[in-house]
Amino acid sequence: MPAPSMIQQITDIRRDFEAECAKIHDNRSLEQLRIRYAGRKGKVAELFKSLGTLNEDDRKNAGRLLNELKQQITESLAAKEKAFSVSVESESILDMTLPGEPRYAGRLHPLNRVLREIKSCFHHLGFSIAQGPEVETEYYNFEALNIPHGHPARDMQDTFFIEDDIVLRTHTSPVQIHVMENQPPPVQIIAPGRTFRRDTPDASHSPVFHQVEGLCVDEGISFSDLKSVILSFAHYMFGSDVKIRFRPSFFPFTEPSAEYDFSCVMCKGRGCRVCKGTGWVEISGAGMVNPAVFRYVGYDTEKYTGYAFGMGVERLAMLLYEIPDIRLFFENDVRFLHQFG
Ligand code: PHE
Repeated sequence: MPAPSMIQQITDIRRDFEAECAKIHDNRSLEQLRIRYAGRKGKVAELFKSLGTLNEDDRKNAGRLLNELKQQITESLAAKEKAFSVSVESESILDMTLPGEPRYAGRLHPLNRVLREIKSCFHHLGFSIAQGPEVETEYYNFEALNIPHGHPARDMQDTFFIEDDIVLRTHTSPVQIHVMENQPPPVQIIAPGRTFRRDTPDASHSPVFHQVEGLCVDEGISFSDLKSVILSFAHYMFGSDVKIRFRPSFFPFTEPSAEYDFSCVMCKGRGCRVCKGTGWVEISGAGMVNPAVFRYVGYDTEKYTGYAFGMGVERLAMLLYEIPDIRLFFENDVRFLHQFG
């Protein structure tokens, strides 16, 4: 074989090797490359074998070039190998072809979703948002709401007492008192927040739950204002097919008092498991603010009237999303929480 052709082959092999080497990203293909170029039967070894066919001058020249090529290939392979071992300890823990770990983006908790809906509805109706403490004195939680001593709600069985006079609020109604103490009428607020009762958890009870209080006080406020607001709210949350009804009830801080129900959204009022066959689902209590409460906060009972209502956020969320068990809200199971975009 004439020398120029040998030199040409050396040049070609160098070029091919460099091109292939640049594309290698894992140890396995690096090993295959080594075998093909620097192995015992590889391209370089083959050229060494054919050196014998050259005359002495050409052989010397080509031999030198070939040795250079061999060294260059060895160095490149070693450098590549080192680069891999620096970036990963072993090939077994880096498999570029594995699919990546999905990252879960955070989402709103279903209770917060519903709360946002509720706030948005009352925002449209002209209500602003008020807040009060979760730890209350008996005065705000009971006394000023006209709940007398000896009322069962004041019992240790029903209420978490922190100290003699300090309780975890059992409802959001004490926010009514804070708001009225701090501003003269007109008042038009909702007060969302966490509430606490000594209930053993089951499908419909949780010792921690959420309420939204509503309060509207001005001259000439009547029960029909209350009804229209509750009806607008029902339509906003559940659609305009929903009907509402008020049943006579008793709360010390409202007079007259009522429980209000929505027609069952599951069965459209026909009767099902959720509404226990009645076609109606109880939402919460409401009524006209008892003048006794106005006297506690110094409002003129001759001049002003008002209505108040409550609602349970969990109950509304359970109806909206057809959730059968209140405990699901608090278990932090992402399989549950993930269903609410
Ligand atoms: N605070 C009452 C409860 O927790 C609900 C309510 C609020 C009733 C406002 C009347 C007026 O059951």
